[in-house]
Amino acid sequence: MTFSSRAFPGGVTVREYEGFVASAGFRVYYRTFEPASYTSTVLALHGGPGAHHEYLVPLADLTDHGYRVVFMDQVGCGKSERSPDPSVYTLEHNVQEVEGVRRALDLGRVHLVGSSYGGLLALAYAIQHQDHLKTLVTIGGLADVPFTTAEMWRLIGELPEGTRAVIEKYGRLGEFHHPEYLQAVDEFYHRHLCRLPVFPPELTRALAETNPDVYERMNGPNEFTITGTIKDIDLTPRLSTIHVPTLVTGGRYDEVTPNVARQIRDHIPGARQMVFEESSHVPFWEERAAFMRTLVEFFKAHD
Ligand code: ALA
Repeated sequence: MTFSSRAFPGGVTVREYEGFVASAGFRVYYRTFEPASYTSTVLALHGGPGAHHEYLVPLADLTDHGYRVVFMDQVGCGKSERSPDPSVYTLEHNVQEVEGVRRALDLGRVHLVGSSYGGLLALAYAIQHQDHLKTLVTIGGLADVPFTTAEMWRLIGELPEGTRAVIEKYGRLGEFHHPEYLQAVDEFYHRHLCRLPVFPPELTRALAETNPDVYERMNGPNEFTITGTIKDIDLTPRLSTIHVPTLVTGGRYDEVTPNVARQIRDHIPGARQMVFEESSHVPFWEERAAFMRTLVEFFKAHD
């Protein structure tokens, strides 16, 4: 375990430490930001699937408001152990990893926050383990993968004609690495993944360091070509069993569209939806201050 302490912009001294725990049969990496005093703990789940926690670090801003924030890398991702057997890379296994980390670190009841695929994971976790949650928050999260994919293709239909044609052409040919295709994918990402003119380095790193053994297996060649093992997952029939306070967030221009968020909200009793009007898939970067205010207000209402 390594430690460091520093004063955060809000003036709160935060102890940052990281380490590994044994979880679901693997060595799983975690990183904690802990203010001198805190009321409760936020556990943050990254997406990809196959990315790592680093693009979520703005959530450590919550330490300014009395929250301890814990990140983890899923098995096969970031600093966590790779599995020699890739069939382990499943939603079910990820749920076990989250529970293993929560127990190993003795986090108690947490505010569980999941981004993108991490949102799907947070929902799946809540279906099984909601007693361990204070609240549930999804950020660009999804419950119904086929509907999400259809919505992404609706967005592709709204791209400039040339870009759309390139995506359709090389997609049909299966030439997912053609430079022209990659440029069109990049254009989609700048509209629907992150709208900041320059991607934050943490996001760039998480994208570049995404483990293809996980991403291609579970997701597919890119964000909107979801041909991997998650492609048919639909949790919506089980969402009505979730009774913890739930906040469903995302950007107006999110690749995981507001319609997908609304679908989650509509299936969870009492859930609320918040759309960030200037954002796409990473509102915690694109509208950082407003995003944190929304989360803090929501958490405080349920602490
Ligand atoms: N591929 C999307 C994400 O997890 C769903 O970022």
